[in-house]
Amino acid sequence: MRPIQTLSVLVLFVTLFLIFFYSTLHLETTNSRRARAEDLLKEPGLLKDPGLLKDPGLLKDPGLLKDPGLLKDPGLLKDPGLLKEPGLLKDPGLLKDPGLLKDPGLLKDPGLLKDPGLQVHDRVVKTQPSKQERFIFPPPVVLNVSDGLRQAIPQNEAYWNRLLYSALKNQDKGGHSFGHDSDWSLCRQTNKDNLQTNVHDFSSYPVLFQDFLQGMNCRSPPVLYNQPNKCISAEGKEDNQTFLLFTIKSSPRNFEQRQAVRETWGREAVYQDALRVHTVFLLGSSPLEDPDLSSLLSFEARHFGDLLQWDFHESLLNLTLKMNMFLQWTVKHCPTASFVFSGDDDVFVNTPTLVSYLQSLESWKASQLYVGHVISSASPLRDPKNKYYIPLSFYDGPYPAYAGGGGFIISGALLQRFYSASHVIPFFPIDDVYAGMCFKALGISPEANAEFQTFDIVEKNRENLCVNKKLILIHRRSPQQIKKLWKGIHNPVLTC
Ligand SMILES: *[C@@H]1O[C@H](CO)[C@@H](O)[C@H](O)[C@H]1NC(C)=O
Ligand SMILES: *[C@@H]1O[C@H](CO)[C@@H](O)[C@H](O)[C@H]1NC(C)=O
Ligand SMILES: *[C@@H]1O[C@H](CO)[C@@H](O)[C@H](O)[C@H]1NC(C)=O
Repeated sequence: MRPIQTLSVLVLFVTLFLIFFYSTLHLETTNSRRARAEDLLKEPGLLKDPGLLKDPGLLKDPGLLKDPGLLKDPGLLKDPGLLKEPGLLKDPGLLKDPGLLKDPGLLKDPGLLKDPGLQVHDRVVKTQPSKQERFIFPPPVVLNVSDGLRQAIPQNEAYWNRLLYSALKNQDKGGHSFGHDSDWSLCRQTNKDNLQTNVHDFSSYPVLFQDFLQGMNCRSPPVLYNQPNKCISAEGKEDNQTFLLFTIKSSPRNFEQRQAVRETWGREAVYQDALRVHTVFLLGSSPLEDPDLSSLLSFEARHFGDLLQWDFHESLLNLTLKMNMFLQWTVKHCPTASFVFSGDDDVFVNTPTLVSYLQSLESWKASQLYVGHVISSASPLRDPKNKYYIPLSFYDGPYPAYAGGGGFIISGALLQRFYSASHVIPFFPIDDVYAGMCFKALGISPEANAEFQTFDIVEKNRENLCVNKKLILIHRRSPQQIKKLWKGIHNPVLTC
């Protein structure tokens, strides 16, 4: 009996020991797993690992989102995937006031943005209103496309010409303009097969041109900076109507040009005691390889309240997209402006002369103005090395007359129709030619005005203030030249 008892006690001890051993072992493993997750959060190298950040399990971990160290990581906040994560945006710890996300005017409130606690969330705040905004652009009106357009642009085998005629056919049938994807993330034609089927030599197009074709239907880039109250005057006076709106094509890095324009011809002011002038600059986004200018732009947008920026790459072939965004913005936020200027940030504009000219127009003319330096019989350039190169298989035909993109003026009364025409006419890679096409569709020809000099004036007259004083627009001038000219033409002792 005795050895059996000893054996049972031994077995019992061994069993108890084993149970204890396994339970500690289990505790050990759970603890080490936790420890590893914490180390992960502290390890900056790991946080930059895009694979990790896309892991939905990680993003749903509330501990992760509350980690202040994480939220200050700029790389994290720039990750578009993360910013689209609704859980993140709704996290009350992230933005203490949930109303902030819904307030599109937030960026205009300097007090709020000076709060250092909020600075870090700047991008989050900027992205959210745009997300809502980009789907509420004004609907285009139905319009009759003029016969003039059909006469000016031949129907043939070239890709763009085919797109145009199929859009016109659709329009004639009373159908809606061709389907532009309203979803920015889905609009790009990434499957090149389709384009190759339609354009036999597509693969021989320059890379950027191929890129343009792939994005031709993309029209709703996210808004980074908006100025929704630009044309609403807080003063409530009789002169609160915008007489002239300057919309100036700029690019993120052109700080100096913008400042020269603000200090001179683009200064927001009331001319002749009643004619109010407003100014906005139109910006895309810098290429990723460029230095990060976002905090400088953020300051500039708040300080001056005149930047409009969209999240698409700044490039020559994206200027038509920029024009479309300006139209969309103006139709929505400044529809009662009497006149709208579209031009570059490296031009000189003689604003007093321009205002007097516009003021003097008869009302029938003032209501259908499209005026500038007119290029009346241009054709596509076929040299692939030229920056305005257009392949024959893309567009075949002459260009309708158009006003040079350095600077032209249109009546505010035409904005809605111009905007609507741009929903019928497929995007063309040259923005001023595209504007000419849209106006042709409206049956409006550009009016030539010799005071718009988009190809500059003869060299001997460039320093002559009396010559300059009579002109309305000169392309191109450096910021320093702009300041000098502005001062010169305002000199009271100048006698011409
Ligand atoms: C378009 O033209 C047709 C016939 O020319 C006319 O009946 C119709 O009212 C026009 N529509 C618009 C919106 O101008
Ligand atoms: C100016 O603003 C006031 C109030 O903000 C408005 O009632 C008035 O109609 C505006 N005048 C013009 C000409 O737009
Ligand atoms: C235009 O912008 C889009 C969006 O940023 C970009 O993908 C595309 O490459 C740009 N197109 C050109 C021709 O640079």
